[in-house]
Amino acid sequence: MAALILYYSRAGENYFGGSLKYIDKGNTEVAAEKAAKITGAKLFKIEPVTPYSDDYNTCINEAKRDLNAGARPEVKALPSDFDKYDTVIIMYPNYWGTMPMHMFSALEKLDFTGKTVFPVCTHEGSGLGRSEADVKRCCKGADVKQGLAIRGSNVQSCDAELKARL
Ligand SMILES: Cc1cc2nc3c(=O)[nH]c(=O)nc-3n(C[C@H](O)[C@H](O)[C@H](O)COP(=O)(O)O)c2cc1C
Repeated sequence: MAALILYYSRAGENYFGGSLKYIDKGNTEVAAEKAAKITGAKLFKIEPVTPYSDDYNTCINEAKRDLNAGARPEVKALPSDFDKYDTVIIMYPNYWGTMPMHMFSALEKLDFTGKTVFPVCTHEGSGLGRSEADVKRCCKGADVKQGLAIRGSNVQSCDAELKARL
């Protein structure tokens, strides 16, 4: 069984339990690296051609603009060997109740027929939101398992949650 972790994550200024803090590595990336260690899956980061701002409030507005427009912002690359994976762990932050629009751009371009998908979302209070349903819509032909929500500010200690579900 070959497994791939497809993830989106943003470093920079973010909101942690009541205050803004600058981080060098995004919460989802921390969780994705843990998931890779636990499962042996290969990591692939979905990177925007035009990244959202490091400034939290600007980023919030950019993400809202793209969500409201139903945008499919360009991503730098997709995995070239996607065919060889039968399991795909999709990891992303909750942006306005669902995945960042860059994940929609990526997932809609890939062929998920026959693959097993595990959605894993990091968030700051709203859990998976609508993202599970959106993953199902984007990953046509996949068997999408129940999603896992991890609180972004607790991501350093999410090993047990990941081990139990992946
Ligand atoms: C643009 C934006 C929108 C967000 N919207 C939500 C939200 O609707 N619900 C929520 O619980 N957290 C929301 N958050 C918090 C993030 O989901 C959370 O901090 C996540 O762990 C960030 O992951 P990252 O560091 O890997 O990018 C939002 C954060 C940003 C930057």
